[in-house]
Formats: sequence, C-alpha cells, structure tokens
Amino acid sequence: MKILVLPGDGIGPEIMKEAVKVLDKVAKKYSLDLEMEYGLVGGASIDAHGVPLRDEVLNLAKESEAVLLGAVGGPKWEGLDYSVRPERALLTLRKELGLFANLRPAKVYGPLVDASTLKRDVIEGTDIMVIRELTGGLYFGTPKGVERLESGEERGVNTLVYTTGEIERIARVAFDVAGKRSKRVTSVDKANVLEATELWRRVVTEVHGDYPDIELSHMYVDNCAMQLVRYPRQFDVILTENTFGDILSDEAAMLTGSIGMLPSASLGGKGGMYEPIHGSAPDIAGRDMANPIAMILSVAMMLRYSFDRGECGDDIENAVGSVLENGYRTRDISQPGMKSVGCKEMGEAISKEVGA
Ligand code: IPM
Ligand code: MG
Repeated sequence: MKILVLPGDGIGPEIMKEAVKVLDKVAKKYSLDLEMEYGLVGGASIDAHGVPLRDEVLNLAKESEAVLLGAVGGPKWEGLDYSVRPERALLTLRKELGLFANLRPAKVYGPLVDASTLKRDVIEGTDIMVIRELTGGLYFGTPKGVERLESGEERGVNTLVYTTGEIERIARVAFDVAGKRSKRVTSVDKANVLEATELWRRVVTEVHGDYPDIELSHMYVDNCAMQLVRYPRQFDVILTENTFGDILSDEAAMLTGSIGMLPSASLGGKGGMYEPIHGSAPDIAGRDMANPIAMILSVAMMLRYSFDRGECGDDIENAVGSVLENGYRTRDISQPGMKSVGCKEMGEAISKEVGA
C-alpha cells in the first residue's frame, strides 16, 4: 500500500500522528504492507519552499495509491495571493489527481446524540452521505479573479460552470453509492435561478433513467440547508455542486455533534485522497485539544475505497464507536460526566481498541 502522508498546517500534524498510529495498528493486525512517504503541503510548504505544493510532492501524490491529508491554511498565510495560498495546494491536488467525487458521510454516533447542539429527536438515526462534486463548479470556473475598472472600482468574478459530462459522472457515483445504502438520492441545486444548475437537474434526471431502483428527488439548496436541521432523517444521499457541497457538509457535520467527526474520501481519478472535512483550526493547534476522529475515520475510508479492505475500515469505525461508548470525549464533543481527553489520548484509546 503506497500512501503519501501530508499532515499540513494547524492541527493537521497532531491529528495525522494519531491517525497514523491507528493505521499502524491495523496494519499489524491484518498484516498490511504499508509504504508511507511524508510531504509538506499548504502553509508548511510555503514556509519551507515558498510554494504551497511543489511539483515533487504532486508527483509523489500521483505515484501513490492514496493520499492522506490533514488540513491546510491559517491566518499566517491569509494575505497571500490566491494562486499561492495554502488552500491552492488542496485544490491543485484534487484537480490534478482528477478527484471529482467527494464522499462526506455524516453519521450520528449513538453515544454522541446529546453532544449535538440539536435536539435528540431531530438527529437520532441520521445517516447521510453528502456527495460533493469536487473539480468543477464555482471553485474552478473561469473567468475568475479581481480586476480594476477604468472607473477606479474593482470587479470580482467567479463562474459556476458545469458540462454535461461532469454532471453525468458525479450523478453516476451518487446513484451507485445510493444503491449500496437506502437507495434514495436528493440532488441539490438552485435551478430556479442559476442556469448551470438547471442543466445539472436535467442531466441528473436523464442519468437516473439508468437506475430504476433508486428514488430521485430534487431540492433547492436553500431549502436543503433548512431541511437538514429540520428533519435530517429524510436524507440518504445528497448529491450536489462543489460550493453547495462545501457548505452543506459543514452543516451536516454539526448534526453529528462536531465538525471534528467527519471524514471524507475524494475519488474518481487516479488513487484517492482522504481528509477530514474540517480546517486547520489554528486557534487550538499544538495544544493537544483537537479531535483526531475525522482524520482517523478518513483512514478507515482509505482502507475501504482505495485498498478494498472494508473489514479494516469496519474495525476502525467500530473502535471509534466503542471509545465514544466508553465515554472518551475531546473538547468539541465534551459532555458532563464523560472522560475529557486530548488529541493524543483519544488517538491512543482508539488505537488500543483496534488492537483488542
Ligand atoms: C473543505 C475545505 C476546503 C474547500 C478549503 C480548505 C479549500 O473547506 O474541504 O471543505 O473549500 O473545499
Ligand atoms: Mg469546507
């Protein structure tokens, strides 16, 4: 298993350390043959080399079977031009590796129902897979940028673009994934206003013709944002555009108690990239306060999707469940009467559980 590990910035390195600990444990238990390389990405790479992603690291990513990524970004690099910001590294990796399908599962763990800011009866039983298109839409469309007008004013532009091919391939991923779940897809758009997403709706409907056993519904993104907190159990697979998916997956994360719980898998092209959906949390970085679970669950997704070792993924997910059951809580999911732990202790508890 050839894996490139990119810890990144902020809490990235500390959560990655725990995730690798768990991966090592699983590797020992199942005799997996790990071949891991490390690289710098984001702000860490800017500080060392002046750019957020060196060609050398990109090539390593292309040669690997999977990439594990922590998080990138932080206030230190916010003043930089967009073309050299830490986030650019992430977008370049996604684009260059052709990872157009981003799977973001939001599942409420039983022991955490009362850790959410939402009421138990709203979130209990929630199990959603957000499928976010990752290499198109508003993030990559052109024209884009900020220009100075003759009047002296500035004008900023981003463009929401999709081709039928891009929509079709992500729709197929959604229907395939739904086939292995509760067989319901909600495609989310803003077809009442945005032409590009009207095309999205039309193409998704056409592709659906090939999947008669899957139930398809369409929803406007504003309504979806509302429905997610009103009645999340109505959703199984949510299929959506890049930016909408970015926003809705953060919202879906909070149903599970904390954004620190949600892993993701980016698939479609060569290999796969696995990262938490949360950011680098510079405010708590280096203080052993972060929740490593999203990163650890990303390792589980990697074993399942890139290496077809679903049993190893299950093992990790069960270990996370047991540790939560046993009352271990990082700060973001803290509950009265539970055992408060730091990032390291949480990672160790999960790794011990995997070894059991
Ligand atoms: C995410 C993040 C990234 C995104 C940022 C860091 C570029 O928010 O993975 O959701 O917007 O895709
Ligand atoms: Mg995001």
